[in-house]
Amino acid sequence: MAEARTIGSLPVANVQELAEACNNGVDGKVPERYLSKDPSAKEVVAGDDSARAIPVIDLRRLLDARSSEEECAKLASACHDWGFFQLINHGVPDEVIRNLMSDVAGFFEQPLEAKKECSQQADSLEGYGQAFVVSDDQKLDWADMLYLQVHPSESRDMRFWPTRPDSFRHSVDVYSSEARQLAYRLLEFMAKGVGADPASLRGVFEGQAQGMRVNYYPPCRPAADRVVGLSPHTDPNGLTLLLQMSHGDVQGLQVKKDGRWFAVRALDGAFVVNVADALEIVSNGLFRSVEHRAVIHPTRERISVALFHYPYQDRMLCPLPELVKKGGGARYGPTSYRDFLTQYFTAQLDGRKHLERLKLDC
Ligand code: OGA
Ligand code: NI
Repeated sequence: MAEARTIGSLPVANVQELAEACNNGVDGKVPERYLSKDPSAKEVVAGDDSARAIPVIDLRRLLDARSSEEECAKLASACHDWGFFQLINHGVPDEVIRNLMSDVAGFFEQPLEAKKECSQQADSLEGYGQAFVVSDDQKLDWADMLYLQVHPSESRDMRFWPTRPDSFRHSVDVYSSEARQLAYRLLEFMAKGVGADPASLRGVFEGQAQGMRVNYYPPCRPAADRVVGLSPHTDPNGLTLLLQMSHGDVQGLQVKKDGRWFAVRALDGAFVVNVADALEIVSNGLFRSVEHRAVIHPTRERISVALFHYPYQDRMLCPLPELVKKGGGARYGPTSYRDFLTQYFTAQLDGRKHLERLKLDC
């Protein structure tokens, strides 16, 4: 486990508990390590206007022979221009999503001692705690998280899987398999949208690892506009499906486009889907892994569930040959994905830097 040990995060305070103290005025001051000094953080484009919002893609239209081609093209543009879209009519039953979200919320409602039964260990990324803390003086995010490897089933480490609420494990199991099938389908349509063989992209991800990160963002009454829920980053996997539980319509996700931050207004019942690093690489840059972050509300918590679909790890990751041809050459060199992941998880989150390093000059 020597290699795995290096990817664990340094232990830091539980933010849910810290937030309770700060918000109740017991100790109203937010510790300096959580306060951001980035003045650009405040300039955000509101996501209410559809012209400035991430595109909406309709799975029903992708599946319908009469509209499929047009919707595939729209999907491909969304993945290039924004790296993000919302997916409606996705076919994952409401009940599956409701059960998942209610069990996830139930986990965080427990007393700290109960949640700690799932705490991260020194040798693992999985479990309840924080990620990407690599030094004692870096700024910290205002959130806790629970990370679980959910597929293949033999990769599950049940030490980190909550046993309460009673239905937690079952809800995650059902949800992860529904969402996985959906992710594979989307990959086929994405490939179609750029004129590639639908099986080509799917083949890179099918049967590979799937991880689930549950983010708990507590409110921050004294300084919501100076803390960051999740620092700007891109996801290291291929395709991410995100759900959020909004109490009273609390939003928090922001996406970077043309140097500006755009607030995402998540549609009720829709998935927010994003292209992640491995998909940018295999698509030879036709799809872009875009920086995003999460911000904090002054009085309301927000919970999100990100499901990460990873590519194969036993071979070098490289752009699909048919997309290299189309693009007039490879824009990324072959990458050991295992090394790429290790680097990602041993550093602070830092936008797109880790991905830019892989680009070839062309
Ligand atoms: C993530 C992520 C955004 C959110 O977990 O990688 O980007 O809104 N989450 O929680
Ligand atoms: Ni992310």
